[in-house]
Amino acid sequence: MKKVLVTGGAGYIGSHTVVALVERGYHPIIVDDLRNSSLIILEGLKKLCGDGFSFLSIDICDKNILFSVFEDHGIQAVIHFAAYKSVGESCVVPLRYYQNNLIGLMNVLEACQTFNVQKFVFSSSCTVYGEPNGRQVFENTPKHLPESPYGFTKWMGEQILEDLHRNTQPFNTLCLRYFNPIGAHPSGLIGELPVGIPNNLLPYITQTAAGIREYLTVFGNDYPTPDGTCIRDYIHVCDVAEAHVCALQHEGYVPLDVFNIGTGKGTSVLEMVETFNVVSGRELPYKLGDRRPGDITEIFANVEKSEAELGWKAQRTVEEALRDAWNWEQQLKQHD
Ligand code: NAD
Ligand code: WQD
Repeated sequence: MKKVLVTGGAGYIGSHTVVALVERGYHPIIVDDLRNSSLIILEGLKKLCGDGFSFLSIDICDKNILFSVFEDHGIQAVIHFAAYKSVGESCVVPLRYYQNNLIGLMNVLEACQTFNVQKFVFSSSCTVYGEPNGRQVFENTPKHLPESPYGFTKWMGEQILEDLHRNTQPFNTLCLRYFNPIGAHPSGLIGELPVGIPNNLLPYITQTAAGIREYLTVFGNDYPTPDGTCIRDYIHVCDVAEAHVCALQHEGYVPLDVFNIGTGKGTSVLEMVETFNVVSGRELPYKLGDRRPGDITEIFANVEKSEAELGWKAQRTVEEALRDAWNWEQQLKQHD
């Protein structure tokens, strides 16, 4: 059975990936110090996966301890999720972001080189496209400088990997550029755990519907889109998780490759609200507000390369994602 190290495996995307890996016969070894997760997720994973995974509470910035994990466990592949991810927070405490996201990445890469790991999967983001010239982005669409320190950590992460592969071929590497992951496992046992007031649309919607927030503010309705609100490529987190299984199985000849992980379809903020109302049977209170600085008008993925070369395609609809997100929000209430 293949042992896969999953840094940040107790987090939102990581935990769903752990489930997908166990379902396909892998043994994930989660390395996560739970700084942005909780025992609730580990309990959910235990119910879903039994003894199919291992968990180690370790800070990946502690290089010696990280190396001892590689020494002890015979790791064959690494999926690297562990990072801080809040765009707004990264503008307030940039050093914390550069420290964790870049030192963490470099430690993991050094361990992969030292212990001869064959495969590395990096959590990148559509944020590396910045404000694109077109609405739909391809993997070879030129990258633009990101708006935030968080975005820069992903941009630099990809650059570090390019530099590492320029003169050597250390290990097969795939950068997965996620678009907007939403939803939760349909069991309601794992999902996103936003800390404090959510920045992202989906947790804000579900918390508003649950009565935790008074109303949703729609950031701008004067964009040049059909209903005036921004358009994004929202993708079910279980589809994102399955892309990682395909990445591990990918037998590409390119030592370093990049894939868009989206649905290929854009949805506006108001369309998300309307669909949420349909799946939840509620009427979400919202107000139209000012634009949020730094937001781009519209972006969605071209996914032809992922389909053709990775053999992966999103299977779930936005409706399913909203239904599962709402189900998770209601389960979370029971933990309070
Ligand atoms: P998350 O915060 O839910 O998960 C990250 C996990 O990493 C957390 O469980 C946290 O405890 C852990 N972690 C962070 N620093 C650590 C450290 N130094 N040592 C050990 N554990 C550490 O985030 P997520 O939404 O699951 O995102 C996973 C990855 O995907 C991140 O790299 C993120 O930047 C990237 N990404 C996320 C999104 C998104 O919208 N969620 C979009 C694009 C890219
Ligand atoms: C989506 C849309 C908002 C909240 C972020 C990161 C990006 C990537 C994905 C990690 C936008 C609108 C939101 C609210 C609203 N993450 N909105 N009211 O900005 O596309 O991308 O997550 O790599 O790097 O920047 O996602 O969920 O914040 O916003 O109207 O209360 O919802 O303006 O149009 P975003 P989001």
